[in-house]
Amino acid sequence: MCGIVGYWGPEKPKAIILDGLRRLEYRGYDSTGVAIFDHGQLKVERSPGKLHRLEEKLRGIEFEGPTGIGHTRWATHGEPNEKNAHPHKVGGVAIVHNGIIENYGSIQKRLVSEGVELKSETDSELIAHLLDEKLREGATLLKATLEVIPKLEGAYSILVVNEKEPDSMVAFKNGPPMLVGLGNKEVIIASDIQAVITRTPRVVYLDDGEIVTSIKGAVKFYNSKGDEIRKDVHEVKWSQAMAEKAGFDHFMQKEIFEQPQALRQTMEGHLEHEPLRVVLKSSGLTDDEYRNFKRIQLIACGTSWHAAMVAKYVFERVTGIPTDVDIASEFHYRHLTLDPQTLAVTVSQSGETADTLACLRRVKKMGLRTLSVCNVPHSSIDREAHGRIYTNAGAEIGVCSTKSFTAQIVALELLSFHMARLRKSCSDEELKNYISGLLALPGQVEICLNHDKWFREAAQSLTKFRGFLYLGRGVNFPVALEGALKLKEITYLHAEGYPSGELKHGPIALVDNNMIIVALAPKDELYEKNISNIQEVKARGGQIIAIGSGDDQGLEKISKHYLSIPEAVWSANPVLESIPIQLLSYHLAVALNRDVDQPRNLAKSVTVE
Ligand code: F6R
Repeated sequence: MCGIVGYWGPEKPKAIILDGLRRLEYRGYDSTGVAIFDHGQLKVERSPGKLHRLEEKLRGIEFEGPTGIGHTRWATHGEPNEKNAHPHKVGGVAIVHNGIIENYGSIQKRLVSEGVELKSETDSELIAHLLDEKLREGATLLKATLEVIPKLEGAYSILVVNEKEPDSMVAFKNGPPMLVGLGNKEVIIASDIQAVITRTPRVVYLDDGEIVTSIKGAVKFYNSKGDEIRKDVHEVKWSQAMAEKAGFDHFMQKEIFEQPQALRQTMEGHLEHEPLRVVLKSSGLTDDEYRNFKRIQLIACGTSWHAAMVAKYVFERVTGIPTDVDIASEFHYRHLTLDPQTLAVTVSQSGETADTLACLRRVKKMGLRTLSVCNVPHSSIDREAHGRIYTNAGAEIGVCSTKSFTAQIVALELLSFHMARLRKSCSDEELKNYISGLLALPGQVEICLNHDKWFREAAQSLTKFRGFLYLGRGVNFPVALEGALKLKEITYLHAEGYPSGELKHGPIALVDNNMIIVALAPKDELYEKNISNIQEVKARGGQIIAIGSGDDQGLEKISKHYLSIPEAVWSANPVLESIPIQLLSYHLAVALNRDVDQPRNLAKSVTVE
């Protein structure tokens, strides 16, 4: 939530900051703004709405100065209008902020009682006032920041500049991510690697409670007491091309089509072929630990939670270990009793989701061993877990998760097959069958992607429908939830996901001939029961779009549309079904003229609770 970028260097900051903001816009797009030095003064320009509006405003405006900061906002406090847009400038200080100041009320009360006139409804402006007080007393920006930090409660990160120090930037992280790019005689401070990677692969990640100063390009790191600390420089491998649309109309579309390659990358390095087996490399947990866990606790949000739900079915069947799945925001505040021999697995594309991170910290405090399944290396969740498996799907920019979902399923299945081998909970033959299922996926996903045109055409005939029910059973049920979420997110149409067998306990009352039923019915052990459930909605007028495996004339006969995915082992079906549900949502959103990559009210990485 909220993208932050700051630049000091020989080039004009405006273009670099705007380019950075464009790459960070997926983090929030309610309003944007910059504060850039111009002949010794800090000029602030802000605009409500998306970045293009700020770009229009800045057309023809030149800034003659070495330093600037910019922001793209996902609103927490205050409406997304111009006065609430960042940067907030008070006196000579300008600030951009990501996160929430929890003791906002008491700070505001104190400032107002002292006669301070607030210009916005944001908590961010208050930080600027506190910094300004210190600067007016003669503090440097670093000293002022060190003195203000203890007054602020909450998870937040800030980047600040001061009119009196035109070659300086100071940033502090306490929650949302912040990193520093060390370029060729230039420094970029940003909330996300996307804004830095185009300038330099050399990056330092701030940890919570750390401050960075950049003064004339000399970068120093401090703890929150002001002691200088040493930090490692990382070489980031992601190429710039991975964050470009590469000829596709939308990032989401590109990312759907990247899935064969993403899945190969997820599996890479974890498979041995003679004999065929999964050997998780460098996961950080030992084989003995994997042998001895008594329970598995999966924790995640949104799409990642759906991937974790798929994994529950797989873990229970393949490893025999009792497995629970929780939504992080619920798990965080539950009164828990957990077996100390529980493996806690946090699943997160971004590795920065505040609720998931809070749960990771909580279970660590309870003494559990933890494993993260993340897509973004060096993210907070990745760094803080004891062990890790990367999905390696490449940068995901579309707000609607696609390739990270299927990559998470594959990563979690790799984990379960690894554990099953160590615990001998499955026969070698069964495991080989499951792993062969994984190996076949990239090719089979290609086959599913070939139906793209069909979805483009079908979407045109679906625009008049307002209700969608997604049905699945067993391991396919979480994909029904994911299908409904994809549709809601980017088309704004109402959709629900249900286990097919649950329908007659209430939701079947919704069914009439205006309702589209997306039925996931691959040939697996629950196939017959699933078909009976589909017949029940058919009998009540439901318009069925069926996703089945191979040639299935019976299912085709009862469906308005039938779409076949390749026949596969049960554990591979969730990945294959994901392709049609993603393409359906994508094309319907395009047909309805929705903003596919930046759907309303959403942001990619949810770094506030
Ligand atoms: C939906 C979507 C979200 C995320 C959720 C968790 O398309 O992207 O539901 O899955 O916000 O995010 P991560 O996986 O980054 O923890």
